[in-house]
Amino acid sequence: MKAAVVSLFPEILEAALGVGIVGRAKREGRFQCAIESPRDHAEDARRTIDDRPFGGGPGMVMMAEPLRRAVAAAKTATLPTAPVILLTPQGERFDQRAALRLARTPGFVLVAARYEGADERFAQSVVDYELSVGDYVLSGGEPAALAVLDAVVRLLPGAVGNPASTAEDSFADALLDHPHYTRPERDSHGAPPHVLLSGDHAAIARWRRREALARTWRRRPDLLLDRDLAATDRAMLADLFRQAALA
Ligand code: ADE
Repeated sequence: MKAAVVSLFPEILEAALGVGIVGRAKREGRFQCAIESPRDHAEDARRTIDDRPFGGGPGMVMMAEPLRRAVAAAKTATLPTAPVILLTPQGERFDQRAALRLARTPGFVLVAARYEGADERFAQSVVDYELSVGDYVLSGGEPAALAVLDAVVRLLPGAVGNPASTAEDSFADALLDHPHYTRPERDSHGAPPHVLLSGDHAAIARWRRREALARTWRRRPDLLLDRDLAATDRAMLADLFRQAALA
């Protein structure tokens, strides 16, 4: 996969993309990421990339032309056909489904804006779509770009040592993950549920599924709406509801 990020702070991205699963995927050639700074594409000697907003108000707005040129350079470095995605709180919510969609593409360009954002004519001229990582405002798109890249790269074939671990992640199945336990078998807060030590793999799988459903229902019931659950899942949920009603 060939990705690129347009950012005024390449050092933030370079540091974070060099470690962990993403760093290994880069070293193994599964993932490349070019970084383009709009500052290198400014039109004046002072390398200006922002200016005051028309109409007044606080903050600065990133100018369209240095961003457009940086995107053109990023496409040359990655793929001429790569979709251009602007990171902004006004974008569509980034979720696991969006990560899976991006992981199936050959590449994309992410644009991390700073200050009050980018001149709207940049978005209108070269941006294919906008993504938000949540309903809060970051000081810049870089942490959002890193969240998107991390979620996508771990889905690339071979990026995670044991592919079962991404298949079982929270949200892989649009459910929250079940609890995990490791040694010691007993600590000051007790012991893991018996079934996990039983060696009965079918019973363990049933327990994990039930816990995932129960957690999702308690913490994020919205995830259970609008989805087709298997009959076994519906039966587990019905049982959970019954127990809750009796409690
Ligand atoms: N830039 C600033 N805040 C953001 C957010 N929530 N998502 C994506 N990009 C952003």
